[in-house]
Amino acid sequence: MKKESLHFSSRILLLTIVTSHSLASTQPRCHEDERSALLEFKTTFFTKKHPCCHVKYTRTPVEQSKVEFWNASEGKTQSDCCSWTGVECDKVSGHVIGLDLSCSCLSGKINSNTSIFRLLRLRSLNLALNDFNCPIPPTVGNLSSLRDLNFSMSNFTGHISHSLRNLTRLVHLDLSFNDLNGTIPTYFGSILNLENLDLVSNSLTGEIPSSLGNLIQLTTLSLGVNQLTGEIPSSIGDLIQLTDIDLQHNRLVGEIPLSFQNLLELRVLYLVSNRLSGEIPSFLGRLTQLVQISLSFNQFHGAIPSTIFQLQGLQALDLTSNKLSGTVKLDMFSEAKNLQELMLSSNKLSLIVETNITQQFRFLCLGSCNLNSFPEFLQDQNDLLVLDLSSNNISGQVPKWFLNVSTENLILLNLSGNFLTSFAQDPVIFKWKKLFEADLGFNELQGSVPIPPPLIEFYFISNNSSQRNIATLMQSKLYLYD
Ligand SMILES: *[C@@H]1O[C@H](CO)[C@@H](O)[C@H](O)[C@H]1NC(C)=O
Ligand SMILES: *[C@@H]1O[C@H](CO)[C@@H](O)[C@H](O)[C@H]1NC(C)=O
Ligand SMILES: *[C@@H]1O[C@H](CO)[C@@H](O)[C@H](O)[C@H]1NC(C)=O
Ligand SMILES: *[C@@H]1O[C@H](CO)[C@@H](O)[C@H](O)[C@H]1NC(C)=O
Ligand SMILES: *[C@@H]1O[C@H](CO)[C@@H](O)[C@H](O)[C@H]1NC(C)=O
Ligand SMILES: *[C@@H]1O[C@H](CO)[C@@H](O)[C@H](O)[C@H]1NC(C)=O
Ligand SMILES: *[C@@H]1O[C@H](CO)[C@@H](O)[C@H](O)[C@H]1NC(C)=O
Ligand SMILES: *[C@@H]1O[C@H](CO)[C@@H](O)[C@H](O)[C@H]1NC(C)=O
Ligand SMILES: *[C@@H]1O[C@H](CO)[C@@H](O)[C@H](O)[C@H]1NC(C)=O
Ligand SMILES: *[C@@H]1O[C@H](CO)[C@@H](O)[C@H](O)[C@H]1NC(C)=O
Ligand SMILES: *[C@@H]1O[C@H](CO)[C@@H](O)[C@H](O)[C@H]1NC(C)=O
Ligand SMILES: *[C@@H]1O[C@H](CO)[C@@H](O)[C@H](O)[C@H]1NC(C)=O
Repeated sequence: MKKESLHFSSRILLLTIVTSHSLASTQPRCHEDERSALLEFKTTFFTKKHPCCHVKYTRTPVEQSKVEFWNASEGKTQSDCCSWTGVECDKVSGHVIGLDLSCSCLSGKINSNTSIFRLLRLRSLNLALNDFNCPIPPTVGNLSSLRDLNFSMSNFTGHISHSLRNLTRLVHLDLSFNDLNGTIPTYFGSILNLENLDLVSNSLTGEIPSSLGNLIQLTTLSLGVNQLTGEIPSSIGDLIQLTDIDLQHNRLVGEIPLSFQNLLELRVLYLVSNRLSGEIPSFLGRLTQLVQISLSFNQFHGAIPSTIFQLQGLQALDLTSNKLSGTVKLDMFSEAKNLQELMLSSNKLSLIVETNITQQFRFLCLGSCNLNSFPEFLQDQNDLLVLDLSSNNISGQVPKWFLNVSTENLILLNLSGNFLTSFAQDPVIFKWKKLFEADLGFNELQGSVPIPPPLIEFYFISNNSSQRNIATLMQSKLYLYD
């Protein structure tokens, strides 16, 4: 027995030496069948004229397809496909296990015969940012070892292939920004290792399958910008690892499920632009990891629950354009020291603004919040990019100090729909260096028109009582209502 175990451990030792030796010097060359599958892919696939992959997705412009570096000739290293750009081999077996052809200028239809689907040991396949303009071929289901599948932004069309059912080991599935239609397959709910599911920006219809509630490893669920209908399934609340939910721009109805109170890891709740209703649930205030709550452009009613004001980590709260009512005191948010985006416009809220506001905001949208004057705390706001005080009850003169607010950063200013009569000085030259869009319309402004900075692109000022001097601005980029 003793001898046997000694023998055994020395075998392990030997094995360790052999493996570390092979790692250090002679990595196995790639396998011939896999090399020819890759070369076949290179020759049968045609690549677009350059530049092919939009610069906005890459740091540097992509001038050449990765496959152009794949070299058939019998050079010493060139013929080892494991050394080719975008190809990853298993260090021990030499089998191709990873293929990253993202942003590779590939253009043309792939189908079930396409040779890369013969690389049966692939664990990772990234074809993002190409242009295939065809359905996802069913043979992708043969790659049953896949952990990562990324087909984002590749112009795939049609239904989501039935054969993805076979990919039970998937951890990351990204089919975002394609033209996929049909419903989200119910069988996605049996890919139990999934951590990220990203179907954003397709044309998917039907309801969110409640089977997704089985995916207990899921951390991000991104189904935004589709045409999904029905209610948010209560089962989504079973996904207690979720950190990010993105269901924006769909046609979802009903309330935020009560089961969401279980989502204690949730950081981002993004439900913008649906037809959701009911009250904003007060349990959100107990999801202490929340950083962003975006519920704008829905039909939520009632008061903003006071629990939300206790979320210390909150950075963005966007409730624009709902049917919320009640009184909000801005200093209720004093616990949320990092709150940078507060958007409450277009509700039926009454805002009470104290002077002792400590946060530095970047987005502050307080349109139709029943304000009677310019909130004085704005004097200390230097980081503001967007300031919306439209449709309030602010009357009289625009104070001098207001023209000093965030002069380095402000991009958008909306003062429309108030009762402003004049500026404290005349003529007024706006000092906001980066101002891009200004709306002073629907006030009672008289006197000369404020002179916008050179960068301005949109400047609305019409429908005030007097519009003298407008003519002098006509050469610049002045836009009028009608
Ligand atoms: C292919 O390999 C040969 C021999 O090693 C080399 O001369 C040639 O430049 C390579 N071609 C490309 C496109 O890399
Ligand atoms: C795949 O290859 C087979 C045999 O060469 C051929 O009959 C079939 O039409 C091909 N399928 C597609 C989709 O190109
Ligand atoms: C997707 O395919 C269509 C049809 O060929 C084409 O007009 C369009 O430019 C493609 N889109 C992208 C992003 O490649
Ligand atoms: C690949 O998948 C097709 C069906 O999509 C199947 O007919 C074929 O047998 C599979 N090949 C391998 C090697 O698994
Ligand atoms: C599913 O994967 C197995 C290998 O695990 C393969 O034999 C079979 O053909 C695949 N089925 C489909 C529909 O791709
Ligand atoms: C898929 O690829 C795109 C483009 O490179 C990238 O932005 C995205 O993060 C990738 N998705 C995953 C899940 O890694
Ligand atoms: C789905 O997309 C395919 C391919 O673009 C198209 O032929 C089909 O009509 C679409 N189906 C629906 C219901 O829109
Ligand atoms: C701000 O002032 C109000 C009224 O003066 C006070 O009730 C509140 O506690 C103050 N908030 C902070 C954060 O100091
Ligand atoms: C300013 O706000 C009003 C109403 O609140 C809105 O109609 C208008 O489009 C806004 N202007 C800009 C430039 O966003
Ligand atoms: C609007 O302001 C005027 C004068 O400042 C005031 O008389 C009026 O009550 C205010 N209206 C509302 C709805 O607050
Ligand atoms: C506005 O800022 C300028 C400096 O840029 C300063 O001289 C002036 O006093 C400030 N005005 C007000 C009312 O704060
Ligand atoms: C400007 O205001 C008047 C009076 O309030 C209104 O009749 C007219 O429709 C407004 N013009 C535009 C372009 O909205």
